[in-house]
Amino acid sequence: MIRWGIIGFGRIAHKFAGSIENLPDGMIYAVATCSGGQDDPYLKVHPEVVVYKDYESLLNDSKIDAVYLALPHKFHKEWAIKTLEKKKAILCEKPAVLNSEDMKEIKAVALKEKTCFLEALKTKLNDGMDHLIKDLPLIGKVENIEANFCSNGLALKGTNSFLFDKEQGGALNDVGPYLLGFVLDLLKDEVVDLTSTLKIVDDIDEHFHAALTFKQGTKAIIEGAIDEAKERYALIIGDKGKIIVPMFNRIIDYKIELNDGTTLERRYPLAGDDMTKEIAELQHCLTHHLNESPRHTMDDTIEIIELMEKIRNNKLTVV
Ligand SMILES: NC(=O)c1ccc[n+]([C@@H]2O[C@H](COP(=O)([O-])OP(=O)(O)OC[C@H]3O[C@@H](n4cnc5c(N)ncnc54)[C@H](OP(=O)(O)O)[C@@H]3O)[C@@H](O)[C@H]2O)c1
Repeated sequence: MIRWGIIGFGRIAHKFAGSIENLPDGMIYAVATCSGGQDDPYLKVHPEVVVYKDYESLLNDSKIDAVYLALPHKFHKEWAIKTLEKKKAILCEKPAVLNSEDMKEIKAVALKEKTCFLEALKTKLNDGMDHLIKDLPLIGKVENIEANFCSNGLALKGTNSFLFDKEQGGALNDVGPYLLGFVLDLLKDEVVDLTSTLKIVDDIDEHFHAALTFKQGTKAIIEGAIDEAKERYALIIGDKGKIIVPMFNRIIDYKIELNDGTTLERRYPLAGDDMTKEIAELQHCLTHHLNESPRHTMDDTIEIIELMEKIRNNKLTVV
C-alpha cells in the first residue's frame, strides 16, 4: 500500500482524495494544511488521516512514500525540491513551475536523490489519449490541429486566487501545459516556428492564441483563456480524414471521419475519474524505482515550459 501525503488541501487536493479511492494500492495517510483542519468535511469522515498544520512536518514523517503537491504554482519549486530531498516521490500539480530553469533544477535534484518527479498532466495520463495516439495514422499525414481550453474565471478577479496573481496568474500558466502537452504528445515532433497573440489585462494574460509549426509541416493552433468560456474540443485534420475530440483534456470519446465516408466512433470510459490514472502512474514509478514516468518525462515538462516562455516572448500583445 502506498501512503500519500497531501501538501495544501484546497480544491484540487479534495478531488485527489476522492480519486485515490478508485485505486486498491494507494491511500491518503496524511494531509498538511495551514488553513484547514478538523472542520474540513473530508477530514471529519476520515479521522484516520494524520493532519499536520505545516508542510515541513508532513515531509518529516517517514511513513509517507509519495506526496501530492497541490499548492498554487509559485510554491511548487520550493516544496518539490524539499520533497525530493526527503526522498519521497512527488506528483506535482501543473504548471510544474514558472520557468524552465527551475524545472531543470528540479530534474537535477530528482536524479541526485534517485526519487521520482511527475507533473500531474491529466490530459496525457488518460486511456483515451493512448487510444487516440494509436488511431492517429488512420487519418494519414496530420496537417492541422486546433485545440482550445477556455473558461471564464473573471469572477475571481480581486480575490486572492492565483489565477489573477501577477506573480503566477494568467491563462498560459493555467491551461498552457494541457494544450501543449496534448499537441506534443500527438505529434512527437519539433516546433520550428511559433507566433502568438496575448490579451494582457493588468499584467495578466487573460487570453492567448499560439500558432506552432512543426518540422514535418504540421500546424497547430492553440487557444487558452480565463476570461471567456468556450466549448472545449480538439480537431485533428489529416490528408485522409479528421478526428473530432470533445473535452480533449479528459478524453472519453472521439469521432473519426475518413475522406472515404467511413465514420468511426470511439468510447473509452474513465477508470475512476480524470485524476485516477495520473495517481496510478506515480505509484507505478515508485514501485518500479523510476525517476520519472516514461509517459510524461521531466524533459517533456521542460519542453512544455520552454514553449510557454516562447509564447510569452514571441507575442503580439492586444489589450
Ligand atoms: N482546481 C483545479 O481544478 C485544478 C486542476 C488542475 C490543477 N490545478 C493546480 O493545482 C494547484 C492548486 O490549485 P487549487 O485550485 O486547488 O487551488 P486552491 O483551491 O486555492 O488551493 C491551494 C491551497 O494551497 C495552499 N496555500 C498555501 N499558501 C497559499 C497562498 N499564499 N495562497 C493560496 N493558497 C495557499 C492552501 O492550502 P492549505 O491552507 O490547506 O495549506 C490552499 O488551499 C494550482 O497549481 C493549479 O494550477 C488545479
